[in-house]
Amino acid sequence: MSITRRLRSARALARLGRHEPRVAPVALGRVPRSVAIIMDGNGRWARQRGLPVGAGHRAGAKALKEVVRRARDIGILDLTVYSFSTENWTRPQAEVDDLMHLFTELIERELPELMDEGVRMRFIGHRGDLSDALRARIEEAEATTAGNPGLRLFIAMNYGGRQEIVDAARRFAAECGPDAGIEEFGALMYGDLRDPELVIRTSGEQRLSNFLLWQSAYSELCFADRLWPDFTPADLEAAVAEYGGRERRFGGR
Ligand code: IPE
Ligand code: IPE
Ligand code: MG
Repeated sequence: MSITRRLRSARALARLGRHEPRVAPVALGRVPRSVAIIMDGNGRWARQRGLPVGAGHRAGAKALKEVVRRARDIGILDLTVYSFSTENWTRPQAEVDDLMHLFTELIERELPELMDEGVRMRFIGHRGDLSDALRARIEEAEATTAGNPGLRLFIAMNYGGRQEIVDAARRFAAECGPDAGIEEFGALMYGDLRDPELVIRTSGEQRLSNFLLWQSAYSELCFADRLWPDFTPADLEAAVAEYGGRERRFGGR
């Protein structure tokens, strides 16, 4: 991104601050490099409109597209989004089947545009339990976008934070020596995403629901009341601005 564009984004962000910043206004240095989003509220969005739940998931996919573009524009480097948890299999079979079709369709449909935008896609979670068709799309998306220089979009699909930690623990026991510690253990997490400085959850719920348990140890949490399909790029900027006003201490003074 050009320096003028970065400055313009930074100024726009500073204007969006919800509170009078106590420290510095949001400046370039305070745009988080890594942001994670728990995209929640699709079901309620659909219910409020008397629509089937699938309509909520489709509206959620549209919201994601805009948010990915804005994340890239404001200089976020890694964006991780929670698409399907290891617990979401317990939903009605019709919803699960519909979601799996939607994911398969979406990856295929959005791939050309994501390529144009230079986005690199990575999927985290257990892909072995997904359908052959979806797994094929995932592998294709990862391979096609692997050389892209832009935003790294991590999609948490059949992802569970506890499962990730158990998987890492197995490998740690098998592969790491007695001197290995936190750094070596952390390196065994799925993908190579940076720990998110900011985790956003929409729909007013205030919990992690098994998302990035290891990586979010010191993340700033931002809870937005809006249901995910209504979440806009401006809401992302507002969350980033809120993050910019937070004082991070990491246990120190
Ligand atoms: C998030 O929206 C999408 C997935 C979990 C796949 P929900 O479907 O959980 O929406 P609510 O929480 O029922 O409103
Ligand atoms: C978390 O939302 C999972 C995703 C957004 C994909 P859920 O709707 O599954 O979480 P709970 O059930 O409200 O904790
Ligand atoms: Mg939910």
